[in-house]
Order: sequence, then structure tokens, then C-alpha cells
Amino acid sequence: MSLAAALPLPVTIKLTPWQQWHNFAEPRDMHDWLRRTHGDLAAIHFQGRDHILVMTPESAREVFTHDPDMYDAFWKESFAGMNGQDSLWVLIGERHRKERLLFSPAVHANHYRSYGETIRKIARARFDKWQPGQTLKAIDTTMMISLDVIMSLVFGVDPSTGLGQGAVMEEGRKLVHTLTHTAHPLIVFYPKLQRPWFPLWWRYVNAKKNLYAWMGKLLAHRRANHIEVGDVMGVLMKATDEQGNPVSDEHICNELLSVLTAGQMTTAVALAWSLYELGRHPEVVAKLRAELEAIGPNPDPGLLLTSLPYLDAVCKETIRLHPILAECARIPMEPLQIGGRAVQPGQALVVSIVSIHHDPNTYPEPDTFRPERFLERKYSIYEFLPFGGGHRRCMGAGLAEYSIRIALAEAALHWDFETAKTDYDIRHDLAMGPKYGVPLLINRRRIPASITNSTVIGVEKV
Ligand code: HEM
Repeated sequence: MSLAAALPLPVTIKLTPWQQWHNFAEPRDMHDWLRRTHGDLAAIHFQGRDHILVMTPESAREVFTHDPDMYDAFWKESFAGMNGQDSLWVLIGERHRKERLLFSPAVHANHYRSYGETIRKIARARFDKWQPGQTLKAIDTTMMISLDVIMSLVFGVDPSTGLGQGAVMEEGRKLVHTLTHTAHPLIVFYPKLQRPWFPLWWRYVNAKKNLYAWMGKLLAHRRANHIEVGDVMGVLMKATDEQGNPVSDEHICNELLSVLTAGQMTTAVALAWSLYELGRHPEVVAKLRAELEAIGPNPDPGLLLTSLPYLDAVCKETIRLHPILAECARIPMEPLQIGGRAVQPGQALVVSIVSIHHDPNTYPEPDTFRPERFLERKYSIYEFLPFGGGHRRCMGAGLAEYSIRIALAEAALHWDFETAKTDYDIRHDLAMGPKYGVPLLINRRRIPASITNSTVIGVEKV
């Protein structure tokens, strides 16, 4: 159909303040309602812009397969303030492509797979702090696991061997932790509040300044001592711009910040939800343990990614049911057509991950946690899209999947636990997460059946 023949968009709905809040806090509810009342391509007016909600895999495919050079970045003003004008989130066109290329060695499977053993040790060390009989918030544990993993990838820190350890790295870990907790939704969603007079913004700027000063010292130390490591910092230190000049320190820091903020919370939330679902589904735990125990104790972590279909299904079903980003968006700079409708430049195309993941036509009984559905059917990349798609698809997807599988296997094999309270998804900032942080009751430590060695003291064999 030519652009001229495309139908106009359905009437744009102007959200009331309550609906705006609802759309922000619980997008699933709002998107379900919009789909029921206005169809698969609903248009809402929100924060001064028309947002076209794309709620079918077919239309998502159209969005993701359009010429990427026709799209501007979404939420540009906010990300430019938070992460810098030259960060991946803000760049478009050729510069965006080049920036992704720059990063790719550090997030390539060949690289992150070499961290498998480190990730396992990190997860084991954190789970080892659990006490039988204790009730805890899973998110507190998973945040620390993903912080340690991301610090390893970005700064070459390895808490299990002591590499890059010590007071300097401890300081860095604290600074990253503080920064993550100062990125308040108000300054993310209302870039007009990114002003020196606004206390939450001022707090964020301060935390960022401290982290940049620390990263600056680390860069200087590495250069002075000719330390060459294949971590993200090392990759960016070797990179050059279009003119062949080294990338500036500020640019390096902006990109490191992008990876830190993109990777830590998202992975932690996905892991916490997977513990939540295991804690509610003993039959799933039993199947998972049988699969894990069949490959013996301490298997090559690479196997967890490639050879365990049930583990894979559990992780996919978790992130289908609880997508971390409810939506991802593009801003067309030229007119285009989606779902037979004409979309104008400047209108945001918002692919509703949450709505596509809960469509009963694709996923019967969409609210039920049933990993088997991923064994029975193969879903297309537009039906299952937790990491977005097209030219901006998540660069850390492989690493996130790898870390989650390794950590989940550790928890399932070595601990008996149950979910202590029903939890549900709400939006925290751009990302979604559990309202209560996934309260878990830790029952006991266990020895996996594949370990016959009974020298572990104080551990019950089951
Ligand atoms: C479960 C964990 C994660 C989830 C669910 C997730 C999800 C997403 C989504 C939905 C996007 C937007 C994609 C789009 O617009 O099409 C994204 C972008 C991105 N993610 Fe992730 N992510 C996760 C973990 C990570 C990790 C661990 C890293 C880094 C090591 C990372 C780095 C990035 C980057 C750099 C982008 C921006 C890509 C661009 O604009 O070109 N993510 N992620």
C-alpha cells in the first residue's frame, strides 16, 4: 500500500492525569485497556507528544525492519542530560552504528563467555550469605550479583580471584551503586527537572561527578602503567574517532555509564523474577534440577547457555511474563506506514513488549508461568522481544542471558527456598521491577544429587 493510500491513525486519546500516572506505573493494565477499546494500534497523547502503541508482532516487525536512518532516538533530551550528548542512547545514524561497533568486542560472546567461571563464583559467594530460616528480598542479592558481574565486564574486576580488587574497586562499586539509586524517575521522565535548582537532579549530578572522577583516576592509572585488559574500559581506551584521534576521557566515561546503567538493574530484576517463579513452582524446580544434575557438578558454564533446554525455557518464560522494559520506541523523521496506518514525523512509535508478551493469541493463558510453552513452540523475534529489536536491540542481551542462567542454576542446585509473598510488576524508572523486591523464605542449603562427596559440613543431603 502506498503512503497516500494508508489510513489515518485512530483518534488520539488524550490521557487524563490519572491515566498518565497509570500508564507510567502499570503499563500492562493500560495497554490491555487501550487494545480492548481502541484496537491493535492505539494512539495516545502523552507528555506533549503522540505515542502510537504498537501491540502486534506484525506491526513490531514493520517498526524494527524500517530503514534505521529514518529514526531519531527516543527520550533523547532525558538521556542526553543523564548520560551525555555522545552516549549510545542519544546517537543516531552513522555515529550510532560506529558507536555500537566500538562496543561490540567487549559484549561479544567470545569475550563474555570467558567470564563464565567468574560469574559462577560471584553468584555462589552472594548466595552463600543466605541463612536457612531467613526471609529476605531477592532483589538485594541479585543487585549485588549483577553489580559484581557488570564491574567485571566494565572494569576487569574479578572478586573471585582478587584481580582489580581492593579499596579502589570497592570505592568504584559504591559509587556505581549510589548513582543507580539517585536516577530518580522524576528526573528521567521530566527532563525539564534536570536543573541545578532541583534537589534530585543535583544529587544525581553529584553522584555522577564522583563516579567520573574515580573513572578518570583509573584511566590515568592504566595509561601510566600500560595496563591493557579486554574489558569495556580497555576496549574504549584503544578506540579512535573518525579522524583517528583517541576517544576523549569524557566520552569514555559517558559510554561506561551507559553500560553500567543499562546492564545492572535490568539483569538483577530478571534474576529476581526467576527466583520468584521458582519459589512458587516446585514442579519446575524439580525438572530444572534433574536437567542440571544430569550434567554433573560444576559443568562448563558455556553448557548452561547451549545445552539445557529446560533452563533456557525457564529463563525465557520468566522474562516473557515479567518484561523488564515494558516498551521500546522510535521517533520517525519521515512519514511512514505501520499496520496500514499513516504515521507522521515526530509521532513516537512505541512497541509494547508487555502487550505482545501477554497476547493470548500467541501465548495461551498468558498470566500462567509455564516454561514448557518454549519447548513446544518456537517464537519469532517479534513475538518474544524482551531485548527490543532492529538497529537498537540490546547490546548486553547475550551477557544478561548468560549471567542469569549461571546464577539461577547456582540457586536451584544449592538452595531450597520459597516465595514468601505475592509480588507484582510496577515501573520503577524506565524499567519495570517487583513492587516488594521478591520476598523469599530460605528453607535450607542442599547438596545437589550429582555431588557424592559428603565432606561439606552442616549441609543436608537431599
Ligand atoms: C535482562 C537484562 C536486560 C534487558 C531485559 C535489556 C533490555 C533492553 C532493551 C529492551 C533495550 C532497548 C532495545 C530497543 O530499543 O530495541 C536495551 C538497550 C540496550 N541495552 Fe539492554 N537489557 C538488559 C541487559 C543489558 C546489559 C547486561 C547490558 C550491557 C552489558 C545492556 C546494554 C544495552 C545497551 C548498550 C542498549 C542500547 C542499545 C542502543 O541504543 O543501540 N543491556 N536493553
